[in-house]
This record gives sequence, structure tokens and C-alpha cells, in this order.
Amino acid sequence: MTVSSRAQVGIIGAGPAGLLLSHLLALRGVHSVVVENRSRAYCEARQRAGLLEAGTVELLRAVGLGARMDAEGLEHGGIYLQFDGERHHLDFRDLTGGRWVTIYAQTEIVKDLIEARLAAGAQMEFEVSGTEVTELDSGQPVLGFTDSAGTRHEITCDAIAGCDGFHGICRDSMPPGLVTVAERGYPYAWLGILATVPPSTDELIYARHENGFALHSMRTPQVSRLYLQVPADEEIARWPDDRIWAELRRRLGPPGWELKEGPITEKAITPMRSFVASPMRYRRLFLAGDAAHIVPPTGAKGLNLAIADVTALAAALTSLLRDGQAERADAYSDRCLTRVWRATHFSWWMTSMLHVDPSADRFGAELALAQLRYVISSRAAATTLAENYTGYFPLTWLPQAEVMPRAQGPGEQGGQRRGHSGLGQ
Ligand code: FAD
Ligand code: PHB
Repeated sequence: MTVSSRAQVGIIGAGPAGLLLSHLLALRGVHSVVVENRSRAYCEARQRAGLLEAGTVELLRAVGLGARMDAEGLEHGGIYLQFDGERHHLDFRDLTGGRWVTIYAQTEIVKDLIEARLAAGAQMEFEVSGTEVTELDSGQPVLGFTDSAGTRHEITCDAIAGCDGFHGICRDSMPPGLVTVAERGYPYAWLGILATVPPSTDELIYARHENGFALHSMRTPQVSRLYLQVPADEEIARWPDDRIWAELRRRLGPPGWELKEGPITEKAITPMRSFVASPMRYRRLFLAGDAAHIVPPTGAKGLNLAIADVTALAAALTSLLRDGQAERADAYSDRCLTRVWRATHFSWWMTSMLHVDPSADRFGAELALAQLRYVISSRAAATTLAENYTGYFPLTWLPQAEVMPRAQGPGEQGGQRRGHSGLGQ
């Protein structure tokens, strides 16, 4: 038996993109259904991003999702760049007129979003299978899936949002020949660990060492997040904990600095890829986040791009479905891709400057080092890095007057120091 129903927007994927889109649409009175093929617990535990641009933080605050982020997030006004055995600080607030970033894990954003959506009575289906989108040419696309109890559903929608990540089904559901892909692979991957030990640094350290890149990030004052460049086809079994700490010490440690060690609670290897699919829309099927584009994590842009996409998409779908205006929906793909390509360039630039390419000759290695020396010695070059890292394009969200009233209004959060993004909304 197939159960048929209707929704204004069908959303595929309960990652940050799909969940935030559902939240933003609800604020504007647009009804959505979210379907996700993993369990809620899996979505809430999947270790990924940690670094939020100033505009992302301000958007989350403005839409009532800032309370825990403001209490537990760690605001950072700069980073360290390390190479040639020396560590250099870049002061973002000074370079950009006050902009900053915040460490607040993607797992926590996903938990906050799921809680907010469930509290608002949202329709969310976890552990679905057989997700498909059909009738794309009809103006009323159909979202099909089998729920966790085995019942098949067909939801006729006014629009469908493909927020189903890089391996999802939505991009490939677009008509053959429509989507063009531009991509670049990298001959290395990241081995990431989560360790129960206080961070050994006040700001993130991005280090280029002759053995490869290393990054010291963090999650909380008690938990560190660290990454090592490893070969693209590396096996995790070749990295027992002792080897990981020894290599982190080697790559991160200038003389006199000590890396604190603690129990490793999570260990995984992530491939590196740049990938941009365009257009991000076919009729009433819209792609957002990793479903449309992937960047290597060195620039910390993937989650921020996903949030920027759905901010634009929520406005576009509201205009289309509530007000009958198609302009924003028609502009959606081009508008997102402008931001995506800026972040794609920045992520590629940071990646190539900080990693050791095993196939590069002396010339390639010297160019990367020359670029790093330029960044720490020229205010103009440092500003380029700082304004891209903290978020080059402002996020726009309609004035509060246009948001539907709800029980808990924005601006109620206390906690950490508030910066100013330095770019108007
Ligand atoms: P996803 O998070 O991938 O969510 C897609 C969802 O769709 C998933 O829950 C998936 O299970 C579901 N799905 C897939 N197929 C189906 C289907 N057929 N039916 C139903 N559901 C489906 N970004 C940053 O901005 N800052 C960082 O510091 C950063 N660090 C990173 C570090 C690492 C190690 C990694 C791997 C990534 C990092 N990123 C970072 C990138 C960031 O995590 C991603 O860009 C982000 O998860 C994208 O969100 P999304 O919602 O588009 O996709
Ligand atoms: C993280 O904290 O996971 C993180 C931070 C910065 C990056 C990538 C990942 O560039």
C-alpha cells in the first residue's frame, strides 16, 4: 500500500542544510517535510565541521538558534599559520575591522535544529529507504520513500529541496545533460581525530611541515580536534594512536611548545575534493549544500556554504510559494554559485599553500612557501586570507517584520562576547 499526501516543500536530507531550510521555511509560514535515510542518533553524532563564519553565527542567532551556541561556542579572532618551523598570528579583528569566527561543532547545530523542529511539531522521517523524486516536469514533483516501518509514501510537493549531501540522489535525478560538473582531486586526505584533552592552543594552528599539513582545532575547553595530511589512499589501520600523536608533535611543535595528549575517541580519514555542479535547480527541484558542491576542508567553508544556500533558498521558496513571485527562485542558482566559486577558490588556495603535494617538484614547494611568507608579511595578503576565512559575502535575511511571529523571539541569547561581522546584513 502507498500512502499519498501533500506538502509545500519536500526536503531530502536532515544534515545542516535540510534541517535549517525546514526551520527557515517554518518561520515564514511554509510547511515542509524532511526525510532522512539515517537514524536521528547517527545524524547527531556524525563528526564533521566545527568552524562558523561570523555571518553564519549571526544568521543562527537571528532565527532563534543561538542560545546554546552563544553559551558553549568558542569565539576566535584569528588563527596561527606555521611554516619553516615558526608560528605567526593573523589577527582577523584587526585585519577586517572586527570580524571573527566561532567554533561550534556541526553535531551541536544538528542537535539544536532537530530539537527546534520537533518542538515546533515538524514532520521528520528518519531511517527512510528508497528515496526518489519523480514528476519533475509536472510543476508538482513527487517525493517517494519507504518509512522505517516499511510503508511506502508519495508526497506531492510544490517544490523539492535536495539537501542530501554529496552521495545523495537528487543531483542525479536531474535530466541527463543538464548538470555540468567542474572538479579537482587532491593527492592527499585528512586523518581527523577527536581527543579528550584541553586544546594546547588559544587559536587554531594551520601548519605546513615537510612531512605534510597538520591542523590543531578544538571543540570545547576539554576536547581537541586535530588533523593530519595523509596519502589519499591511506588505511586508518596504519595509524595507531601513538603514531598519530608522534606525527602531530612533529608537525605542530616549534621548539618550546608542548602538545597535550589524551584519549582518542574518534578517528577517521576524509578524502579531499573540489566539486561544483551547476545549475543548482531544475524547475521545482533545488539543490543545496554538499549535494551541489564540495570543498576541501582547509578553508572551513562547506557548512557555511550549505547554510548560505538554504538562507537564499528559503527566501526564494517563500516568494515563489507564498507570494507567487518567481524572480528569487530564478536567480537562486546563479546567486549561490557566485559565493560557491569564491569559497572554492579560497579553499583550493589554502589547501595548495598548506599541504605538501607528493608529486610536486622543488618549484611547486617553493611557490607554496613564498605564498605563506607573503601572507604573514603583507597586510594586503593577510587581509585577503582574513576576509575570506571570516566570510567574504554577507548573509542576507529578511527584516524581522517579515518573519512569522513565534513563541521564542530572536536576540534572547546571553553568554559569549558578541563581535560585529564588519559587513552589513
Ligand atoms: P550533509 O551534512 O552531508 O547532509 C546530507 C544528509 O542527507 C545526510 O544526513 C544524509 O544521510 C542524507 N541523505 C543522503 N542521501 C539520502 C537519501 N537518498 N535519502 C534521504 N536522506 C539522504 N565545513 C565548514 O564550514 N567548516 C568546517 O570546519 C568544516 N570541517 C569539516 C571537516 C571534515 C572532516 C569534513 C568531512 C567536512 C567539514 N566541513 C566543514 C564540511 C561540512 O561538514 C559539510 O559541508 C556539511 O555537512 C554539508 O551539509 P549538508 O547538509 O549539505 O550535507
Ligand atoms: C574543525 O574544527 O573541524 C575544522 C576547523 C577548521 C578547518 C577544518 C576543520 O579548516
